[in-house]
Amino acid sequence: MSTSRPAAVVVLAAGEGTRMKSATPKVLHDICGRSLVGHVLAAAGELQPERLVVVVGHAREKVTEHLAGVAPEVRTAVQAEQNGTGHAVRMGLEELGGRVEGTVVVVCGDTPLLTGETLRRLSATHSADGNAVTVLTAEVPDATGYGRIVRDDSGAVTAIVEHKDASETQRAIREINSGVFAFDGALLADALKKVRTDNSQGEEYLTDVLGILREAGHRVGASVAGDHREIAGINNRVQLSEARRILNDRLLTAAMLSGVTVIDPATTWVDVTVTFEQDAVVHPGTQLHGATHLGEGCEVGPNSRLTDTLVGAGARVDNTVAVGSEVGPEASVGPYAYLRPGSRLARKAKIGTYVETKNASIGEGTKVPHLSYVGDATIGEFSNIGAASVFVNYDGQDKHHTTVGSHCKTGSDNMFVAPVTIGDGAYTAAGSVITKDVPAGSLAVARGQQRNIEGWVARKRPGSAAAKAAEAAAREPAGEG
Ligand code: UD1
Ligand code: CA
Repeated sequence: MSTSRPAAVVVLAAGEGTRMKSATPKVLHDICGRSLVGHVLAAAGELQPERLVVVVGHAREKVTEHLAGVAPEVRTAVQAEQNGTGHAVRMGLEELGGRVEGTVVVVCGDTPLLTGETLRRLSATHSADGNAVTVLTAEVPDATGYGRIVRDDSGAVTAIVEHKDASETQRAIREINSGVFAFDGALLADALKKVRTDNSQGEEYLTDVLGILREAGHRVGASVAGDHREIAGINNRVQLSEARRILNDRLLTAAMLSGVTVIDPATTWVDVTVTFEQDAVVHPGTQLHGATHLGEGCEVGPNSRLTDTLVGAGARVDNTVAVGSEVGPEASVGPYAYLRPGSRLARKAKIGTYVETKNASIGEGTKVPHLSYVGDATIGEFSNIGAASVFVNYDGQDKHHTTVGSHCKTGSDNMFVAPVTIGDGAYTAAGSVITKDVPAGSLAVARGQQRNIEGWVARKRPGSAAAKAAEAAAREPAGEG
C-alpha cells in the first residue's frame, strides 16, 4: 500500500486522566515495557511523518521529560487549559506555525493498541478518496461515552455527535469515533477557527470540524477499523490491564508464529522490545523485559524474570531472576539463581542453585553449582567453585576484584577476600579464608587446625544421649557399622 507521508502527526495528551487515580500522568503508565504515549508514537512513527507534535497540558513537566527521553525528535505544544480536543489540535498546529500544508493525522495519547497498519490504511483511504477529513471509526459492542458516527441514507458520514449531546436515536448507533483522524491541514486550520463551545461540556470539539467541512462542501470519509479493540482508549486501571493482556497476546502470537514455544501464554509476559530465535521455549510464569533476547533452542522458566538479558543458543535458565546479564550458549542457570548486572557466562558455564552473581565473568565450562555469591570476579575456563563460597568484594567502603584462573578447584565454604588472585590450576582447601594470592598449581589451606578432645562428652555431659551413643560406639568392634 503506497501512501504519501503525512506532513504532521498531532498526538493529544493534555488530559488529566483522573480515573487512573494515580500520581503518574495517564499517558506515562506502562504496558509491555513502553508508556501509553510511547506506543502511540511508535504507531505514528510508522507513517514517517515529517513532523510529530505531542500536545501536553496536565503534568506537562513529567510528560515532556519522558518524551525527551524516549522520543527526542518529538516536539511538544502546551495546552495550558484543557478546553477540548479541538482546542488541543489548535495548540498543536500553532507549534507547527499555525497552518500545515498536506495531511495532518490526529491521534490520542491513550490508545496504545492502535497499530501503524491501521494508521497507514486510514492515511491511504484519505489520500485515495481525496477527502478533507477521514475519521477512523469502529463498531463497538457498547458505545457508551463515545462520539457517534452519523451517516445519511447513502451511507455518507455527516457528523459526529458526542454521547452527552446525542439524541436517543443517535445513542443507538454503535459505530463510534475512535478519536483518530486524517485531515487536509489547511482546511483543518480554517475549520478549527469556526468551532464553537455551545455544547454540553462547553468545550471546543475536534469532532465538530467534520460537520463544518461537510457543510462547506468538502469530502468527508471514514475508515472502519478491523478490530474495535485496537482503538480502545485507556481511562482506568482495569482498561490498562485489559490493554496489556491484548498487547501481550499479540506479541506472544507473533513469537509463536515465528517458531517460539510458549507453554502458557496466560502466565508469560513480554515487553515489545524482547526478541527471540527459533525453537526457544518459554515455560510458565516467565516475564521477559527490556532488551532481553532468547537464542535458538534455549529454554527459559518456569518462574523466571529476565531484564535486558541475552540468553545464548541451547542455554537453560530455570527459576531465575536476571538483570543486565549474558548467558552463553549451552550454559545453565538455576534453579533459584540471581544474576545481577554485569554477569557474563561463557559457553557451557553453570550457575547453580541459590547462587548470586554480580559483575562477574564466568569462563567456558566453569561451574558455580551451589549456594554462593560471586561479585566483582573473573573466573577462567573449566574451574569449579565449591559450594557455599563467597567472593568477599566489599570492605565496607570500596569494592575489590577477585581473579580465579582456569582449571582451578576451590573447596567448599571458601571466602575469597578481594583483592585476591588464584592462579591457574590451583586448589584451595574447604573452609579456607583466602586473603593472599595463590600461585598457579598450589594448594592453599587457610583454616584452623582440627583438634579432637577425646572423652569430652563422657566427662562434660555424663548420662546424656550423646554420651550413651558414644559408649555404645566404643563397645562395637571397629570397622563394623
Ligand atoms: C473523544 C471524542 C469522542 C471519541 C473519543 C474516543 C471529542 C469531542 N470527542 O471523547 O468523539 O469517541 O474521544 O476515545 O473529541 N485532550 C486534550 N486536551 C483537551 C481535551 C482532551 O489533549 O482539552 C486529549 C486527552 O488527553 C485524550 C484525548 O484528547 O488523549 C481525548 O480526550 P477525552 O477527554 O478522552 O475525549 P472523550 O470525551 O473521550
Ligand atoms: Ca477518552
